[in-house]
Amino acid sequence: MHLTAMLRINELTSEERAVYATLKPERLPQHVAIIMDGNGRWAGHRSLKRFLGHQQGAKSVQLVTETASRIGLPWLTLYAFSLENNLRRPKAEVSFLMRLLKSYLESNVQRMMDNNVRIRYIGRIHELPTEVQDKMHWAEGITAGNTGTTLTLALNYGGRSEMVDAFRSLANEMQQKHISPERISEEDIHRHLYTAHMPDPDLLIRTSGEMRISNYLLWQIAYTEIFVTERLWPDFRGIHLLEAIADFQRRERRYGGIGENCGEVEEDPERMKIAAS
Ligand code: FPP
Repeated sequence: MHLTAMLRINELTSEERAVYATLKPERLPQHVAIIMDGNGRWAGHRSLKRFLGHQQGAKSVQLVTETASRIGLPWLTLYAFSLENNLRRPKAEVSFLMRLLKSYLESNVQRMMDNNVRIRYIGRIHELPTEVQDKMHWAEGITAGNTGTTLTLALNYGGRSEMVDAFRSLANEMQQKHISPERISEEDIHRHLYTAHMPDPDLLIRTSGEMRISNYLLWQIAYTEIFVTERLWPDFRGIHLLEAIADFQRRERRYGGIGENCGEVEEDPERMKIAAS
């Protein structure tokens, strides 16, 4: 069971505090997922090499995580490296991202401790280089007892491959327990996803203006509110997370039902005439 994080509002910047003051604390999302996009363009706009965009993006990861931990956000899940990135990006860029991840974990584990942040991972982690996996497990072990925000990095992750892995594992379980296919429920599928231990995201943020899901958390975002900002990830800060949450709080979540101000419910639908078009 995940413990509720302690609020550290006094540690927000004055600008962040001003946005936080507009939020309804009882309606904070439990889980925010982010597609961090635009590192390359951020670098391109400055005539810099792409890797400098990623380096600046890593800074945003730390700062946004710290704001999340100060407002007591229980779950923050960041798309750091997709299966497709691994397969389709130049070898040099993939290798740089791996080195950046290792160095990020080494240099930020103390700040995670100071902020009561626990780090975890989702994705086909076993396919990453061994020395990167070792560093990941090291950071996960050190922060395992923290009870504030759980920062989950999606690494070598793909939503479809997550489902393939889940269905394989569910099929094995069914075979062993002699369960018939008719008994499979949504809950069974949820139990076999990488995210079985966490709630589905309430809010999905995508930076850099692209209107795509990019194979991220496909099962989990069925009813997630989506917020797209033109801001590139290296320019994204805690205040922008708070602004996205403010926007989220203005939405009405209906989960396929009907909301307020959507017309009156007819008591006796049989009385209603259907107009021919
Ligand atoms: C998308 O930008 C970003 C990535 C593929 C990698 C995300 C990595 C980071 C934010 C930094 C490292 C993270 C950690 C946790 C250390 P892009 O390169 O696709 O940008 P573009 O679309 O503008 O080219």
